[in-house]
Amino acid sequence: MNQPAINNQQATISNLVVLISGHGSNLQAILDACASGELNAQVVAVISNKSDAFGLERARRANVPAIAKLKPKDQDRRAYDAELAELAASFQLDWIVLAGWMRVLSSAFLDRFPQRVINLHPALPDTFPGTHAIERAYEACQRGEIDRTGVMVHLVPDEGVDTGPVLAQAEVLIQPTDTLESLEARIHHTEHRLLIETLGAYCVKRNA
Ligand code: GAR
Repeated sequence: MNQPAINNQQATISNLVVLISGHGSNLQAILDACASGELNAQVVAVISNKSDAFGLERARRANVPAIAKLKPKDQDRRAYDAELAELAASFQLDWIVLAGWMRVLSSAFLDRFPQRVINLHPALPDTFPGTHAIERAYEACQRGEIDRTGVMVHLVPDEGVDTGPVLAQAEVLIQPTDTLESLEARIHHTEHRLLIETLGAYCVKRNA
């Protein structure tokens, strides 16, 4: 019992559960790549910890189950994570993709899906973990500390914040003429591409 609902059928298409907290532009990139056939995958559910996340609307528009799973204030973090895992596992999934999911997941969630949780972060490995990574990189550049930042996609083995085995990364140069908005736009453009490439390389099944 209580095993992750990993998809053991002979299907050649990968089932993704996508966790979001907000706008969902990376979710949209996944939905578009699935619809166009660029990714041999389908999104079987989108779960948000915020009821007003626009990504839920994107999921509904794509006819994908869209679920708001809010953490009650008085609920223990691990209890919430265990319920979240149960919810995710109720879909027959191959991979869980954290695409703008802004809660740190505890082992009560992660232990249900070993080697199956992938996170996207808008910074290079070991830099600017947590929230507002792009803004903090921009400010570091203004102070003359860095001239580039980037994007990474990594596995989530434990409760480390935006750490874990890196599957792919891409640098983004910060131009002297950049505003925070122009840098954000370039990083988002880069992450939409890198996420799809990485899912294509690591997470989709190949025909034998
Ligand atoms: C993305 O930039 C993603 O890399 C970041 O949240 C944004 C979500 O945008 N994730 C993190 O910062 C994780 N620490 P989206 O909702 O438009 O996809």
